[in-house]
Amino acid sequence: MSAPLVFALPGNEPFAQRLGDALGGRGGAMDLHRFPDGETLVRVDSPVAGTAAVIAATLFRPDDKLLPLLFLAKTLKDLGAARVVLAAPYLCYLRQDKRFHEGEGVTSRYFAALLSAHVDGLVTVDPHLHRYKSLDEIYTIPSRVIHAAPAIADWVREEVTNPLLIGPDEESEQWVGDIAARVGCPHVVLQKTRRGDRDVSVSVPHVERHGDRTPVLADDIISTGRTMMAAAARLWDEGLAAPVCVGVHGLFAGDAHDGLLRAGAARVVTTDTVPHATNGISVVGPVAQAVRALL
Ligand code: R5P
Repeated sequence: MSAPLVFALPGNEPFAQRLGDALGGRGGAMDLHRFPDGETLVRVDSPVAGTAAVIAATLFRPDDKLLPLLFLAKTLKDLGAARVVLAAPYLCYLRQDKRFHEGEGVTSRYFAALLSAHVDGLVTVDPHLHRYKSLDEIYTIPSRVIHAAPAIADWVREEVTNPLLIGPDEESEQWVGDIAARVGCPHVVLQKTRRGDRDVSVSVPHVERHGDRTPVLADDIISTGRTMMAAAARLWDEGLAAPVCVGVHGLFAGDAHDGLLRAGAARVVTTDTVPHATNGISVVGPVAQAVRALL
């Protein structure tokens, strides 16, 4: 198969460029025209018949992105692309993995069904798998999951002296334990209680024996930042130093980034799965390898 064509949904151009370089591919030319009434026209300008096409589309704030993405994927198939693989470094709609309250939709399943009907393969980074053990439980297309832990561990090793890895809740154990093992440092996991979108509290186990270490709070998603803010405040109460906050996916709803700094974070660093000023750790290399495997 010829070199893949990498198409970037708006906002994904830098990631798509790096992905294309790592794949030895070329940028795909296309236009998404938004009509005055809000509908979208997709036009693909690169010849795609018989080619492998990659769509780079990170899916934070997904609702506005979904139709253009599905239309682009269908258009590529319609024009004869041999395969269409979606590189979605951040994959949304995974936290609603059960009906938490009567009458709610299990949107993780509905979203997975939509994507599975439009692309031939999916690559993502540390999807929020909690009650699902694998994407295969809800996606019917082949998928590859990249873990950011090796890249984050390299970063921590180089940037943080005498670290203590801290997960803000039980779900974060999987990421934090892996990073700590790679760095060769201890880790602890806090207990989180979430009462609402922006109402979070955490409790801290005994950490006195780690008082000489630099706390590194690590989580898969920083959204409102409330989880990390609450954790940072409790660590401060326990006499630990200002934490370094590391997120795989920095969604930063509202003023979450500033709020986190105000709450006492010494530094905030994220991977490049979602474009943000805090991006300091790249996962493009492993994403490219996984895309290649699916093509
Ligand atoms: C939830 O279980 C995730 O792992 C994160 O802890 C959560 O999404 C963080 O959200 P926020 O920044 O809004 O507290």
